[in-house]
Amino acid sequence: MNKLDFKGMKEWDAEVYDKSFGFISEYGSELIELLNPQAGERLVDLGCGVGQLTAKIKTFDCDVIGVDADPDMIHLAQKKYPNIEFFCAKAEDFSIPDPVNACFSNAFLHWSLQPEKVILNIAKNLKSGGRFVGEMGGHRNVITITDALYEALAEQSVEREKVKFPWFFPEKDYYISLLQEGGFQVNKAYYFVRPTPLDDCPNGIKDWIQMFATNFLKVVPENRVSEFLCRTEELCRDKLYTNGRWFADYTRLRFYAELL
Ligand code: BEZ
Repeated sequence: MNKLDFKGMKEWDAEVYDKSFGFISEYGSELIELLNPQAGERLVDLGCGVGQLTAKIKTFDCDVIGVDADPDMIHLAQKKYPNIEFFCAKAEDFSIPDPVNACFSNAFLHWSLQPEKVILNIAKNLKSGGRFVGEMGGHRNVITITDALYEALAEQSVEREKVKFPWFFPEKDYYISLLQEGGFQVNKAYYFVRPTPLDDCPNGIKDWIQMFATNFLKVVPENRVSEFLCRTEELCRDKLYTNGRWFADYTRLRFYAELL
């Protein structure tokens, strides 16, 4: 069995995430440019995962704190970057003792189904005029993968209502309105399509599903998971497999906002 074979129902494997999904932070470099960290500033990296981007932000001589709700991710981040402060907390209720200059978040905000609460909590932890710079899955993100997952479920006679849909992929204008209601002025917002190669995943789209789409796997009888994964892969192949490479059909919503 390789490291990415289905392992019971564990939600996250920080080591596998680090090894096979490093592309997530590689794409974050442009977002750091948008953040434009200044020496001496205090910042939060919300949903920091194993801390690669937190460490990049730190190179700007600022004081950055990594926050993530997953204890395994935080544990690995602390091990990899012992000179950076990391702590485990949810986006909806993390709390930094003194307000910070900026909150940065890459490929994380779509994991909270309480976006209003997250935005309000970020505002609470920012200084007035503080920046909130983020990128997340946008409208129709991973639509080919999710359509295939639902179709493969239907073929196994599993009702789609059994799946707790784990993500929030908003339209740009809707997310802008949430930010404004949360007290932010939105200076920049972009929506774009970004097919994302899964080159470090030996089993391509199956590995992506086992890492991120566990809510779908949970509702499949255990003895049919492997068949389910093969069928989902087949259903994705036409659109997401090109020249020997698997791609995830990501769309991105990127924004730069300031607390009024
Ligand atoms: C994303 O970055 O778009 C994403 C990652 C994992 C699951 C769903 C979406």
